Amino acid sequence: ATAGMYLLRNDWRLTACAPAKVNLSLEVLARRPDGFHELETLMLAVDVCDTLSLEPTPAPQITLHCQWATGLVAARRVYERTGLPVSAQAWSDLPAAHDNLVWQALHLLQTTAGIRLGANVILTKRIPAQAGLGGASADAAAALLVANQAWQLHWTTARLCELAAQLGSDVPFFVTSGAAICRGRGERIEAIRPPRCWLVIVRPPVGLSTPAVFRGCQPEPNRRATAVVRAALDRGDLSAAAQGMHNGLQGPAEALSLWIGKLREAFARTGCIGHQMSGSGSSYFGLFWHAAQARRAAARLRGQNIGAVMMAQTAGISTIGSGHKQATL
Ligand code: C5P
Repeated sequence: ATAGMYLLRNDWRLTACAPAKVNLSLEVLARRPDGFHELETLMLAVDVCDTLSLEPTPAPQITLHCQWATGLVAARRVYERTGLPVSAQAWSDLPAAHDNLVWQALHLLQTTAGIRLGANVILTKRIPAQAGLGGASADAAAALLVANQAWQLHWTTARLCELAAQLGSDVPFFVTSGAAICRGRGERIEAIRPPRCWLVIVRPPVGLSTPAVFRGCQPEPNRRATAVVRAALDRGDLSAAAQGMHNGLQGPAEALSLWIGKLREAFARTGCIGHQMSGSGSSYFGLFWHAAQARRAAARLRGQNIGAVMMAQTAGISTIGSGHKQATL
């Protein structure tokens, strides 16, 4: 069961929500000989979501139509159109399908499972790219979970996770959990109970490349920020958790982009409980106790021209999909 994921099912099209994540801690423990870094990170899914809708097909082709949601109209259109044949012209298939992690996930599952069914996928994006919010990984995980059902494979989560780890370091998190400590490359998942809080997330006008940010980082093997944040969350002490937050990639990101420092200063003036960059950036978030505080901060930040401002809640306790027939995957 994946917090934040839900499934809309009708005759032949399955629709799932693919939530973004933020990192309350991200510690780079060591460089590894394989070019990756040994990490310890505490990740929370939040209810800024892409929508992935999949129709299984008898022919083995996998087709992917991808578009940016433009507010509620596009979102509603997806829900209303669920189950209806979608005209190809109505959707721009902008990213080359084979470069998209969703296509790669479905292809990998299809070949590993040795099946000859295909899929017709519509991906509606709301999670910004190059943002450290895990958008592409969330989409890939949603694709695996939905295809597992649509193709009636009955694979266990553990088995799906092995494929997920081949697709990207963050994908296993989205397959298994809405709140977790992730270790190794990021693929070793220990689920935790998600805290209840509100977030404001800002994606500045310029994104950051994950490999470039990692190249600039200095491993810190003994900081133990993740343990501090986790212990605070276990006690239900969100203030202490926010105070203990640390992102080892923020320094190198600030060296690459002036936006990160600007966002740090802007968030310091919002009265949030704590703030930092998410993942390898470039998005930045603040934590808030109440929706009203987050709403006020979001309004102030929107007036400062520092990027796209989103308000979110931790996905495990959100009302994603309410009003629709839903089931937890
Ligand atoms: O696994 P994923 O494809 O998301 O990783 C993208 C890039 O991020 C890698 O090529 C690597 O440069 C960097 N990375 C890393 N250590 C990790 C995860 C990612 O260095 N644990």
